[in-house]
Amino acid sequence: MTSISIRDYRAEDEEQWVRCRVLAFLDTPYFDNVLTSKEHYTNPTIELVAEEDGVIIGLLDLECEETPGTVCSARPGLGAMLWHLAVHPDHRREGIASRLLAAAVDKARQRGIVRLEAWTRDQATVQSWYERRGFKLVDSYLHVYLDGGRELNGALRSEIAGLRPVQAFAHYVGDDRAGMRTRFKRVHECSLYELGIRG
Ligand SMILES: CC(C)(COP(=O)(O)OP(=O)(O)OC[C@H]1O[C@@H](n2cnc3c(N)ncnc32)[C@H](O)[C@@H]1OP(=O)(O)O)[C@@H](O)C(=O)NCCC(=O)NCCS
Repeated sequence: MTSISIRDYRAEDEEQWVRCRVLAFLDTPYFDNVLTSKEHYTNPTIELVAEEDGVIIGLLDLECEETPGTVCSARPGLGAMLWHLAVHPDHRREGIASRLLAAAVDKARQRGIVRLEAWTRDQATVQSWYERRGFKLVDSYLHVYLDGGRELNGALRSEIAGLRPVQAFAHYVGDDRAGMRTRFKRVHECSLYELGIRG
């Protein structure tokens, strides 16, 4: 019988943290957002992992504001940004992400954080995961990938002689979202969710 523990991240977890994150995102719209080392932050953090028999199977990183509006959007009170939340695909739907979130919320409240923010791409299962845990959708914009001459032509031009762009990634904050979806093959809606955690 094995048991899963939630504990603070330690420096020696880094390799397993990276592996777990890569595997977790492989079948999601973030499949090519691969990190090869653990992200570090300028503000104080809550960095947790889920461990089973010495193996990291879940992770969560929260960066906590010390001044409102410096990490999260400018709203009243201190916020914390959920930069990473991932569970190994063999351990989905075992309640691991819920346990990581609950532990992080407890710690964040003790630091005076009143709300969490999380950005996620258009994946119904993940959006409903957030919504069922009380997160509210507050904003969104588009992530647009431009791939090859046909998509780049008329959209992006190099200012450097001899340098020809072949791929690009862009944020779209305009009003013609349907037009973007028609013109480009890979377009994601990137949504901001917020959870109030005032105790
Ligand atoms: C999104 C993600 C973090 C959820 O992790 P998870 O550990 O599977 O989530 P949980 O187990 O806490 O909850 C999942 C669901 O399983 C249910 N569940 C929990 N234990 C269960 C069990 N033993 N049997 C069946 N279902 C169970 C929960 O009730 C929940 O259902 P609900 O959302 O309908 O209420 C995970 O799927 C993942 O890593 N996805 C890829 C990375 C990603 O998209 N990260 C977040 C956005 S950037």
